[in-house]
Amino acid sequence: MQKVILDVDTGIDDAMAILLAAESGQLDILGITTVNGNVPLEYVVTNTKKVLQLQGNKHIKVYRGANQPLIKPARHEFAVHGNDGLGGALADMETNQPEGEAFAPDFIIEQAKRYPGEITLILVGPQTNLALALRKEPQLAQWIKQVVIMGGLVSESGKGNTLPTSEFNIFADAEAARIVFHSGLPIKLISLDVTMKTYLTKDLIEKLHGTKYYDFIMQSTSVYRKDSLQNYGNDDACALHDPLTVGVVLDPTFVKTAKYFVDVETKSELSYGQTICDFRNNWKKEPNVEICLDVDAERFVAFFIDTLQKA
Ligand code: BDR
Ligand code: CA
Repeated sequence: MQKVILDVDTGIDDAMAILLAAESGQLDILGITTVNGNVPLEYVVTNTKKVLQLQGNKHIKVYRGANQPLIKPARHEFAVHGNDGLGGALADMETNQPEGEAFAPDFIIEQAKRYPGEITLILVGPQTNLALALRKEPQLAQWIKQVVIMGGLVSESGKGNTLPTSEFNIFADAEAARIVFHSGLPIKLISLDVTMKTYLTKDLIEKLHGTKYYDFIMQSTSVYRKDSLQNYGNDDACALHDPLTVGVVLDPTFVKTAKYFVDVETKSELSYGQTICDFRNNWKKEPNVEICLDVDAERFVAFFIDTLQKA
């Protein structure tokens, strides 16, 4: 089984990513690290514990990470994920899911040292925890097998979800993302232009009727789905950004990839947090990121539903 650490800012689609990872039965989840992002850290921790408890998992520990970006003030996404980050779902759940004692960046370093060359990091929130870990332990980049990141915008400039050219996870801490992109770590980037092609409709959620996830997914996505009229031509679908990122770890053939040099803009007022992919090699730099060119959306979404149906 692949050893992974999942780094999340739970968040509605983070929650579905956690469920996919845990239900796949194909991943050895060493721990789940949390970061400030969609909602403040305290909510992220609680939401993550609730989602694991819903899944019935008693052994995966949740680690607290950065409660703010490296430099910029925090920006949250209450309008998308609701005031609590889960669209009001699981509001009454009391959780006793175990928490790990270590600070998330220290946990990442400790596990990477313990299993050199074996761990895949799956980052589906701002990259603050990994940036802090890289700063503290310069050798970390040599110990991690791969980092798979949901973030950025590669081929559809102008269609960002935070600024016209910026995607939320990178925008939320562009300085951290820049450290990660320049670290020498093998990076696979699951960018917004690709994740927007994978979406969940109300009809698809109906297929989960009778499973323990039906109520949660129907309720948590109810506002998130209404947001999508302009994206999908109906008012009843939400993007599977973070689940696709887990999906690519489970089956890399869901996406078609190519390697390029990608950098992160941190200075500009207009395009702070933009990921810039040097498609024509103008900068003459070694490729540092495997980007996604396309996704077999239908096959991935079917896999997502199928995995949760079997739960
Ligand atoms: C990303 O930002 C968050 O709102 C989602 O959880 C996802 O990780 C999409 O831009
Ligand atoms: Ca997320």
